[in-house]
Amino acid sequence: MVIYRPPDGWSNDPNGLVVVDEIKHLFFQYSPNSNQPQNLSWGHAISNDFVDWHDKGVALPYNSITKEERFSGSAVYDCNNTSSLGSNGGPVVAIYTSNYAEDSTFPDGSPVTKGTQSQSLAFSTDKGMTWKNYSENPVIKHPPPKYADQWQNFRDPKAFWYEPHGKWVLVAVLSELKKAILYSSLNLKNWTYMSDFSSKNAPPNAIWECPDLYEMKVVQQNVTKWVMSISSQPTENKIFEAMYYFVGSFDGYKFVEDKSQMQKRLDYGSDFYAGVTWNNVPNDLRLMIAWVDNWGYATNITDKYRGGLSLVRCLNLIERSNGQYKLIQKPNSDIYKYVKSQRSYTKAEVENGIEFGRNKAYNFIVTILLSRVNETGISLVIENEYHKEEAKIHYDHVNKTIYVEKLNILVDPSSNEKRVKHSAKFDPGLKMVLSIFIDAYALTVFCNEGEIVFTELLRIVTNSTNRTMRLSKGSNAGINVTQLWLAIKN
Ligand code: FRU
Repeated sequence: MVIYRPPDGWSNDPNGLVVVDEIKHLFFQYSPNSNQPQNLSWGHAISNDFVDWHDKGVALPYNSITKEERFSGSAVYDCNNTSSLGSNGGPVVAIYTSNYAEDSTFPDGSPVTKGTQSQSLAFSTDKGMTWKNYSENPVIKHPPPKYADQWQNFRDPKAFWYEPHGKWVLVAVLSELKKAILYSSLNLKNWTYMSDFSSKNAPPNAIWECPDLYEMKVVQQNVTKWVMSISSQPTENKIFEAMYYFVGSFDGYKFVEDKSQMQKRLDYGSDFYAGVTWNNVPNDLRLMIAWVDNWGYATNITDKYRGGLSLVRCLNLIERSNGQYKLIQKPNSDIYKYVKSQRSYTKAEVENGIEFGRNKAYNFIVTILLSRVNETGISLVIENEYHKEEAKIHYDHVNKTIYVEKLNILVDPSSNEKRVKHSAKFDPGLKMVLSIFIDAYALTVFCNEGEIVFTELLRIVTNSTNRTMRLSKGSNAGINVTQLWLAIKN
């Protein structure tokens, strides 16, 4: 399920996620006048609840004079006005990557070579609604001297307040080197390089993008850990891009991954990328949103089903008995406020196949409880008189693996591949609960308490009004659905 798409144009990564006076701000990579990523700007939407987003148009436009695209970045609420950019209280400050698509000049008059990526500021004195450029941009022109040759691969700054040292910390990537790079600042304008981070648990042959770093209390323990998440795009077959995270400690200068940790993937579908978390959310909630698409085919999709932004997820960190830390992800509870109707079905009804959503928009939340987990599966079928599209969710108890499969769904218009299958190792014990969120753009499947999540772009093109959505037991025998609730979001 996608919760936000701008009314038109191209969009990709979420940016500048910050809560200011209870208003939730969502900025995103945006080309309002094109269906391709060109002259990228920051688009803007706001919400009271992380679900119902109101479009606010372009916040930071492409700068046609300096030829500066506004690539991904973050925003902070500088409530103590450490930057002195505020008037009447603290400003909201965005720090983003200036991507110079052509030879140009910096505001101080010095030349910029095409392809340079520098970090720049914009600020708002009306709580995030309108924006000005900082006159002395960029605030970080180039990577530190030892990485000077990476001037074209230095991007995606995520800034946050580090309370123990009373300073701002920023994490960006040196994408081709597969490194995160950390800086600190007292005023958001002057940044000092502190350290860098790479990991043997990162996938090989894949660049790093959109890093994030956050502290999390371990569930049911009196300790906190730091989590670094990144998005990783393979240099060859981009379809395998995905998000990963590392768990360790951060002393205000350096992030160190715990020694015994293994590779950790955030989502097992192919369409959850560039995910980052909000700054300044009350009650220490850690909420993430991502782009629902994939650089492997996103630019081939020119129709209006061009992805969008994901359901907002609430992250929690648990420690397993084997000492591995794991992020547990649940849909942020605000989504359930939009449930219009619910009902449960008997096992017999499910076995016969349930038809719901005839001639309705597909906007469903389906919770399925499978008890006595056996060889089992379900199928969501969307069809009209000409066309049948199917999303199959199947659990193989012998190999303890869950599969999400798209059948007869053409995600990438430039290929003939209509069948895509993703899997994850998963041991649900005796009970498996699947929470499935589906609309015309995407499918999100949360397994049990959110140990495993799949996000899949659907692009359901069945646009006839005579369409149905059915849920039926999979082709495998032994389905053990005992209860099912169906809810419709407006
Ligand atoms: C990730 C990314 C970022 C970059 C942005 C440009 O999807 O490639 O690294 O800042 O998109 O739109």
